[in-house]
Amino acid sequence: MEVLEQIYEGKAKKVFATDHPDYYLVRYKDDATAFNGEKRGTIKGKGEINNRMSNLLFQYLAKNGVPNHFVEEVSACETLVRRVEIIPLEVVVRNLAAGSMAKRLGLVEGTHLDEPIVEFYYKDDALGDPLVTEDHIRVLHIATPQDVEELRNRALEVNRLLLAQFLQLGVQLVDFKLEFGFAEDGQILLADEISPDTCRFWDIETGEKLDKDRFRRDLGGVEEAYQEMLRRLLTGGAQS
Ligand code: C5P
Repeated sequence: MEVLEQIYEGKAKKVFATDHPDYYLVRYKDDATAFNGEKRGTIKGKGEINNRMSNLLFQYLAKNGVPNHFVEEVSACETLVRRVEIIPLEVVVRNLAAGSMAKRLGLVEGTHLDEPIVEFYYKDDALGDPLVTEDHIRVLHIATPQDVEELRNRALEVNRLLLAQFLQLGVQLVDFKLEFGFAEDGQILLADEISPDTCRFWDIETGEKLDKDRFRRDLGGVEEAYQEMLRRLLTGGAQS
């Protein structure tokens, strides 16, 4: 497999074309940003941890019927993935109120939600990724109502599978963000990453935060939290 030109550089990853027409190579970085790039830093070892963790979770999801872009881990920080055209929506699922939802609605972080909820954010750095309704998505032609329904169902299925997985590891999955894309054949695939950068993980016993909020909120112990999440996944095994 030959790695060709870089086609994209995001905040946490670079994406390269390869000599295989259907595959991209993703290289995870240690760079960390928060608040739409206003806060910047480095989390040592993050690239490797997020690569490993995403790949374990993508394989677990694939085994359980959630099609996704994972093909093969090629090095500590690099993974071969199916080439997709990313749908410009961040799909957030929440089991407890936290972060922007808690702030927007004046809720105490950790407030129980009667059922998981799905939110859509329009991926646009210049606008700061605004929350959008299904009507916004339709009239702005960001995605069709059928695709939005599909994204919602897939996101809730991912939530069901991940909640069970993390519960076994003593972790409450508070919320997370997913991205999806269209493969060459028109199939919608789960893409991007699933890691402490994109999820809120709280230790069930102590409530300790084991995710990027430690970086966002200057709580210290950032690297240790990322390492602990990977350790639990590896020792608990990504259960099938
Ligand atoms: O900030 P907010 O509460 O809306 O984030 C909800 C979830 O989505 C969190 O787990 C956060 O890590 C994730 N997220 C993300 N990328 C963004 C925005 C949120 O991974 N750009």
